[in-house]
Amino acid sequence: MPPGSLDPTTKRPFGATGLMVTPLCVGCAPLGNMPETFAYSVSEEQALQTIRAIFASPITFVDTAASYGDGESERRIGIVLRELGGVPPGYVLETKADRDLTTGEFTGDQMRRSVERSLRSLGVDRLAICHLHDPEHVSFEQITGKGGALEVLLRYRSEGIIEHLGVAGGPIDLMMRYVELGCFEAVITHNRFTLLNREAEPLLELAAARGLAVLNAAPYGSGILAKGPSTYPRYMYRDAPADVVERARRMEAVCQRAGVPLAAAALQFSLRDPRITSTIVGMTRPERLTQTIELAQVPIPDDLWPELLKI
Ligand SMILES: NC(=O)c1ccc[n+]([C@@H]2O[C@H](COP(=O)([O-])OP(=O)(O)OC[C@H]3O[C@@H](n4cnc5c(N)ncnc54)[C@H](OP(=O)(O)O)[C@@H]3O)[C@@H](O)[C@H]2O)c1
Repeated sequence: MPPGSLDPTTKRPFGATGLMVTPLCVGCAPLGNMPETFAYSVSEEQALQTIRAIFASPITFVDTAASYGDGESERRIGIVLRELGGVPPGYVLETKADRDLTTGEFTGDQMRRSVERSLRSLGVDRLAICHLHDPEHVSFEQITGKGGALEVLLRYRSEGIIEHLGVAGGPIDLMMRYVELGCFEAVITHNRFTLLNREAEPLLELAAARGLAVLNAAPYGSGILAKGPSTYPRYMYRDAPADVVERARRMEAVCQRAGVPLAAAALQFSLRDPRITSTIVGMTRPERLTQTIELAQVPIPDDLWPELLKI
């Protein structure tokens, strides 16, 4: 490992939960086959090979959600977990409880259906970590009201079916409001703390100060910073706007001059932040595990950061 670089496989505490996780976490959204989101399909066989590689790798933290492929990501993970006889020792698997993707229902009853389906699909009897997922789809009052989604998830936690509860979503002000409730042990922000967007700054500050585990998902802005703006001009699950493509091109050129892959800078921008417990990277190929560990360890000259951050 190059001197001074972070070992992405050395475990650290997951907030105050007592769990230990790696600074890298494998994101399994694209493994649920979501062509409308990522603009490519992932066959079951390719997904299973990747999931087998994940559970044999030194990255021991894995993220999925009930909504990824409307259950397909969890179903595919469940196939491999059954082959392995459960989550292998030392690995931490987290999922998220979701609204009904067809009707939009985000009630306490829907949380029960979501959690029960996750348990069945994954073939486990408890969830080490479960997040309230994308609560921005309904109002804060609906989620937190009597008999609502939050109450049901808290009950699952008191029963031990959910061991640790987090909140995951987009709008930063809203995520901060949920963190301030004081009942979550972890928070996930996505696409808002990258080389292209740093809106999540106040959320990172708040959550870290409160001792939550802080997870930063989608360090590549959903792929443009990994595959490069020419190969994959998509940002936050849509065709990238021209100004984003242009900024990514300029970043790529600056990185190229420094002999650093753009993906390494994008990944390390998140990994090097002391407030972030783990960075969640989406991938759909077995070779990505080794590639990601290598990208995390590419030496980056200190003076590259200010150059990149002013673009
Ligand atoms: N609300 C939430 O809680 C929330 C929201 C968003 C994301 N997440 C989680 O965070 C994870 C990460 O986000 P994301 O998957 O949306 O975006 P991301 O991590 O920014 O980017 C994923 C994309 O990067 C590509 N990639 C990764 N490593 C690569 C490499 N070494 N070379 C070339 N391409 C590479 C993947 O391609 P390949 O398919 O070719 O490997 C995939 O297309 C998700 O999978 C999900 O688990 C959570």
